[in-house]
Amino acid sequence: MKQYTRKDLMKKWFDFYTSKNHVIIPSASVIPENDPSVLFTTAGMHPLVPYLLGQPHPKGKRLCDVQKCIRTGDIDEVGDNSHCTFFEMLGNWSLGDYFKKEMISWSYEFLTSPDYLGIDPNKLAVTVFAGNENVPEDKESAKYWEEAGIKRENIYFLKDNWWILGSGVGPCGSDTEMFIDSGKPKCSPECNPSCDCGKFMEIWNDVFMEFRTNEDKTVTKLSQHNVDTGMGLERVLCKLNNVESVFDTEIFAPVIKRLEELSGKDYRDSQYTASFRIIADHLRTSTMIIGDEQGIAPSNIGQGYVLRRLIRRAIRHMRKLEIEAGFLGEIANIYVEYFKEDYPELKQNQEKIVEELNKEEQKFLKTLELGNKEFDKVVNGMMRKNEFMKDKDGFIPETQINGKSAFRLYDTFGFPIELTVEMAKERGLSVDIEGFNEAFKAHQELARSTSAGAFKGGLADDSVWTTRLHTACHLLLAGLRKMFGTHIEQKGSNITSERLRFDFNFDRKLDENEVKELEKFVNDAIAKNIDIERVEMSFKDAKNCGGYGIHKADENETVSIYKIGDLDFQICGGPHAKNTSELVNFRIAKQEAVSAGVRRIKAVINF
Ligand code: ALA
Repeated sequence: MKQYTRKDLMKKWFDFYTSKNHVIIPSASVIPENDPSVLFTTAGMHPLVPYLLGQPHPKGKRLCDVQKCIRTGDIDEVGDNSHCTFFEMLGNWSLGDYFKKEMISWSYEFLTSPDYLGIDPNKLAVTVFAGNENVPEDKESAKYWEEAGIKRENIYFLKDNWWILGSGVGPCGSDTEMFIDSGKPKCSPECNPSCDCGKFMEIWNDVFMEFRTNEDKTVTKLSQHNVDTGMGLERVLCKLNNVESVFDTEIFAPVIKRLEELSGKDYRDSQYTASFRIIADHLRTSTMIIGDEQGIAPSNIGQGYVLRRLIRRAIRHMRKLEIEAGFLGEIANIYVEYFKEDYPELKQNQEKIVEELNKEEQKFLKTLELGNKEFDKVVNGMMRKNEFMKDKDGFIPETQINGKSAFRLYDTFGFPIELTVEMAKERGLSVDIEGFNEAFKAHQELARSTSAGAFKGGLADDSVWTTRLHTACHLLLAGLRKMFGTHIEQKGSNITSERLRFDFNFDRKLDENEVKELEKFVNDAIAKNIDIERVEMSFKDAKNCGGYGIHKADENETVSIYKIGDLDFQICGGPHAKNTSELVNFRIAKQEAVSAGVRRIKAVINF
């Protein structure tokens, strides 16, 4: 039987859609630009939101791509046959062009035609929207599926067939999902494609985006009918090649092989399979996060925390396989080589990837053994108590690790809380998460009240301060450009609700006077109560008017520009404060070197 490679599948996708007059666009970053509501790009439509809402796309109304996506919501499922925290999504879009009829007939053609995937139609099952109080059931899609060749009994009407981004705001609509039926018997008479018994595997989703959910949760009709589709590359490759799991495809093969060599253990040995898969998955995702255009390093917040969790969980499973320390970089390099053609940023950031992984491993290893001992101490203490008390009347054995112990493991031994939960589960125990959160909060408050530039907070929610810090980034860059020249550019930024982090091209530390001048520039702007205006124009016009920024676009693409009086005119997707006075005040908290020629400033507002 012919084995398909990842490249074969991508070629089929692009051949098919270019034959239907679609234009191929490149994958966007895995870190969404200027969207503080989510940490990662979770779907191909994410970077296309403005165009789904009606802004014209410079490449036209029919687009297709392969998008790097990260979804960590299912992290605990990794180890089974189908879940990955990073995956590639094959996507195609109609921006106010074709709709249900064409899309369903093309989906059927791509899936079943011998020129493309050649799947037996009897092995396909599809689901369509069963309707709710606002939108009726989607009989139209069911009709098109039947006309195309799907048997009526393989078409299921489900209430869940509705798609929107995780933030719950933005373009949305009913969807029709496609599944491969493994041929196993139904687990119950009610068994349907949404059941997780393993009979069905979802491979593709066509969303008919004709609505928008607004910030106030009202749903309104969009001015155009869109189609947004997403097909999971790893899953389709797995099914096409008739292998058991996504980890048995060529994508993971070299890494699994190397892990077998390093561990001397067999991937097929069921006591180890899940660990092999977790390591292979988590290190691939970590490579993609650190190696992204907007590269992130491990930390205790936001994307950096997710990254830390992934790396530390991978390390723990490497210890389970008895693989020594020092091999993270080597595994990452296998992925860099494999993906470099499609994601050249990985090659460009190769050194950084290896360095960050090694640094993180060193940090974790310093405390891992001690942390494991501490964990055992806590658990053994509970067990001893349970044993001692077991005959006492009314005694209920303890099965939950308390919040304080979990926090100590986090704070002193660097165990992400999710790791403690996972280790507890392996021993049949749970963790008091509420207690952990309380201990965490108490610690934070203590740290705040004892640190000089303590952040006031409490006045507004996090997203408001994140937005204001974004405006502070613009003012900071405007100040740097005024002081040192317009060759200064943003080289990266990261915002939490408490501080901004801003990287720029510069080769030395700012001296005390320069720091003061820069702070004064931003504080003067704040004092002037300047309104921040948003204007739209073509990328070309924006450049001609002196607009600048890291945003890349085609000449005629419409972009938004944020104007702060005559101080700054930056091409940017927003969001921003309405007026500079909202920032209250500005202070540079720290400066450091990032790499040769790149400096980093951390700053706070409203302190
Ligand atoms: N946006 C749709 C999904 O991610 C296609 O499933």
